[in-house]
Amino acid sequence: MNILVVDDNDSVLTVLRVALESKGHSVWLATDGTEALKVLQQTDMHAVISDILMPRMDGYQLCLEVRKSERFGNIPFIFHSSTYTSPSDELMAINVGADKFLKKPANVVDVFQALEETLAKPMHKNRMGAPPEEFGLMMEYNARLVSKLESKNIELEAQSHALRQSEEQANKSREQLRALTARLQAAREEERIQIAREVHDDLGELLTGFKLGLAWIGDQITNVPAFSNHQEVMERIAALGLLADSTTKRVRKLCTELRPAVLDDLGLVAAFEWHISEFQKHTNIRCKTTVKEKTLTMGAEQATAIFRIFQEILTNIARHSQASKVRVLLQTDETKFMLEVRDNGRGIQPEQMAGTGSLGLLGMRERALGVGGKLDIQGQKGRGTTVTLTIPAQAPAARS
Ligand SMILES: Nc1ncnc2c1ncn2[C@@H]1O[C@H](COP(=O)(O)OP(=O)(O)OP(=O)(O)O)[C@@H](O)[C@H]1O
Ligand SMILES: [Mg+2]
Repeated sequence: MNILVVDDNDSVLTVLRVALESKGHSVWLATDGTEALKVLQQTDMHAVISDILMPRMDGYQLCLEVRKSERFGNIPFIFHSSTYTSPSDELMAINVGADKFLKKPANVVDVFQALEETLAKPMHKNRMGAPPEEFGLMMEYNARLVSKLESKNIELEAQSHALRQSEEQANKSREQLRALTARLQAAREEERIQIAREVHDDLGELLTGFKLGLAWIGDQITNVPAFSNHQEVMERIAALGLLADSTTKRVRKLCTELRPAVLDDLGLVAAFEWHISEFQKHTNIRCKTTVKEKTLTMGAEQATAIFRIFQEILTNIARHSQASKVRVLLQTDETKFMLEVRDNGRGIQPEQMAGTGSLGLLGMRERALGVGGKLDIQGQKGRGTTVTLTIPAQAPAARS
């Protein structure tokens, strides 16, 4: 048998198609009444199983149109609906000319049974022609449609209210997370300052004591003629002294890396210059820096955020860009502070920016937001990457 299944839901279509085909039927599919009528006009069908609520032309209207047709007006017609399920809906379905009414999702056995029963009915049995009192029927049908739409509307409103609520909740969590990140970063910065100070003071002092001790031993030995290998001992002492000196230098460098003192003592521009010179020493990348307006009045929190963002930008350039040149522009006017770092490397790609595995870019963005600014990253394949940090002057956090 040729069966036409009409439904705007793909999964319902698939389930019914598979079930009916397993019984040896040939199945045609349509997603609304208009499409279904086209199929009926082109191919002879033996039965229709149709949903009711569908776009363009719904099931009731389809049934009315079918019953008006000279050619296929007496075809068995079964409704299969989840929206129109009350007894009066069912009655309406019968009034528009349907043979059967199934509640969705109907058991396939029920579908087969309904199909068998309707196919077994004598073909002439009150199917042909338009049903009586079509106007009255249409009125009732319209009223029913309006009430269904109203209840759907209420349902949708409730859903959108719930959606708005969960969106608000998500926004709140995001805000909390942001505040937490800012707190963590501030705590980390504080800790770095403290460690740098302790390492600098304690280790510095210990190393100085060590050197003084060595000098004292040297003096003692010089005055003891009994030491036959006097010269060799003195050389060892001198070597230990050099080792202490280079350890002191290493400790200082470590402290500066932990927290560049220039940032606190001489300000952002000096810290940038120091970091750029370190960067050039360790990479083969040339840096050209332009500073427009030297007197940057910046709170400590902003200066730290900007400096850490700058460090991450240069680290990324060294690690990923394959660039040979970098241009740094630091600019400030009454309205904003701006840092632009442009490299001539391979160019960051959108999927790398969206990657969830890496934290560098995320950290930069969060830091920028934390001081009321924003970060923009642009990559051009093969032509480089430009990172721009802008902090508006009026942002409450930008001046402290
Ligand atoms: N200047 C750049 N040029 C080309 N690609 C870049 C550049 N900066 C970043 N990228 C790409 O963007 C990705 C993300 O950078 P991000 O700093 O977030 O992570 P990462 O450097 O890989 O790791 P980490 O979390 O240690 O910073 C990098 O893995 C890299 O592929
Ligand atoms: Mg990185």
